[in-house]
Amino acid sequence: MNATQEKLKHQFAQALVAAFGDEYAGVDPILVTASNPKFGDYQANVALSLSKKLGKQPRQIAAAIADKLDVSEICEAPEIAGPGFINLKLKPTYLEVQLNAIQSDSRLGVPTAKTPQREIVDFSSPNIAKEMHVGHLRSTIIGDSIARILEFLGHDVLRLNHVGDWGTQFGMLIAYLREVSPEALTTANALNIGDLVSFYRQAKQRFDADEVFQETARQEVVRLQAGAEDTIHAWKLLCEQSRQEFQIIYDLLDIKVTERGESFYNPLLPGIVADLEASGLLVENQGAKCVFVEGFTNREGEPLPLIVQKTDGGYNYATTDLAALRYRIQQDEAKRIIYVTDAGQSNHFAQFFKVARKAGWIPDDVELVHVPFGLVLGEDGKRYRTRSTDAERLRDLLDKAVSRARADLEVRLKKEEREETEEFINKVAEVVGISAVKYADLSQNRTSNYIFSYDKMLDLKGNTAPYMLYAYARIQGISRKGDINFEELGENTKVLLEHETELALAKYLLQLDEVISTVEQDLMPNRLCEYLYELSKKFNQFYDKDHGVPILIAEEPLRTSRLVLCDLTARTLKLGLSLLGIQVLERM
Ligand code: ARG
Repeated sequence: MNATQEKLKHQFAQALVAAFGDEYAGVDPILVTASNPKFGDYQANVALSLSKKLGKQPRQIAAAIADKLDVSEICEAPEIAGPGFINLKLKPTYLEVQLNAIQSDSRLGVPTAKTPQREIVDFSSPNIAKEMHVGHLRSTIIGDSIARILEFLGHDVLRLNHVGDWGTQFGMLIAYLREVSPEALTTANALNIGDLVSFYRQAKQRFDADEVFQETARQEVVRLQAGAEDTIHAWKLLCEQSRQEFQIIYDLLDIKVTERGESFYNPLLPGIVADLEASGLLVENQGAKCVFVEGFTNREGEPLPLIVQKTDGGYNYATTDLAALRYRIQQDEAKRIIYVTDAGQSNHFAQFFKVARKAGWIPDDVELVHVPFGLVLGEDGKRYRTRSTDAERLRDLLDKAVSRARADLEVRLKKEEREETEEFINKVAEVVGISAVKYADLSQNRTSNYIFSYDKMLDLKGNTAPYMLYAYARIQGISRKGDINFEELGENTKVLLEHETELALAKYLLQLDEVISTVEQDLMPNRLCEYLYELSKKFNQFYDKDHGVPILIAEEPLRTSRLVLCDLTARTLKLGLSLLGIQVLERM
């Protein structure tokens, strides 16, 4: 709810009391945004909900409320419509005051959270010795945007990279490398990441086929867990090598995340099993230690256990997640823990959340949220891959986006007969390419699959990063053309709203706080994308040669007022895009 809605709600409470008595003070006015702007901006449906209780016609009730409703500062006189809706239309003078207020506010009217809290965003989280794939890319982009939004709202955000850096796969890999490339276990960067990944694959094949090797690998896991010096040294080298590779991607994407991998929680795993045992939840099933919770079954309909310790004594992904969860609550004092992974892991999260609840580890004031997302598909509608067997390397994918953006730019420069420096071209190509990838991902409802298409994401038209960046640059173009410094428009300039496109833009500009507070709750960054896209369209209508208003050639005081609207639109775009992890360009 935004500030205006809050004020209206308050007035409704008073009107309800005045019309029907004190017991009606807490009644919800059921205030919604009007579906058709022709009828106003808001609609209150409270009269319909009170009809039965009051034993009167809704229209009659609506009239009684409207009669007592004092909203003259905010709205035109309320109108009663249909079966008994109360329609409200915001007054231009009210909007003008609000706009003047946000003009001098660097947060553009978005308040910080009333109760800032510690929030953890667990995102990105690739696996050591494996390459990051497009699934990790989605997690990285979505997780970063969520973290940025929460940080902007003043929450104390811990961005955690729960990398897969522990487990039996290291036994396998180290055992294999001892045979084929021992120097990789003693010397830093002896292999490149591509070799490491293919050795990993070979190790896995060998493991699946060769029983003697399986035993060797197991011994290596035991050595790792026991902290044997040479094995630990080798493990550290492998982690460091992967880390460097991941960092290249994070730098390209301008993303910060703190690594706290699975290995961090390793010492806590026996305690998890022991505590589950003590609380009576643990069941032995063919030598494995399991917890059963209702609602999880396999395909045959049999109860599906959460295995916390395998027959061979090893621990699972879920055991580490239970340990991490408890640590994050007890040591990090998190109040909301957000996990950003593909929807394929939904069951895993639901199940270990439930186990943790049953064990009594989740205080009432702690919220656990899995933020699932769909698959990245190729234009053929199948899982996105460039080679038939392999997820495309992320770095190639990002590089390709940048070079495609560069090619598009060069074509455009030629057409417009523009000369630009190499530096300018590099910068624009990089920002456009990377933003296009991010925006294509964020603008989708994250729960659905999306089709990865360079052509679509780099299109200058439509709900794309280039379109948004262009809208911003176009406004900066107005300031250049008129030789105007937006920052110096001054605080005593009055905004005046006359034209319908001005009013529509103004109302939209005032909705940023509402959008952001919705995303804070439902963690759907696509809402912010939609808002920014709509905002640019509203701006284009306002600036349209035929249907909009003149700006630079308008008479004062309208000229300055319109420039303020330009400035506010540009600042809203810039702020909104920054919350998506997207940088703007003054010119492109
Ligand atoms: N490493 C995992 C994967 O690649 C993602 C980890 C997500 N976070 C978590 N706490 N389980 O699938």
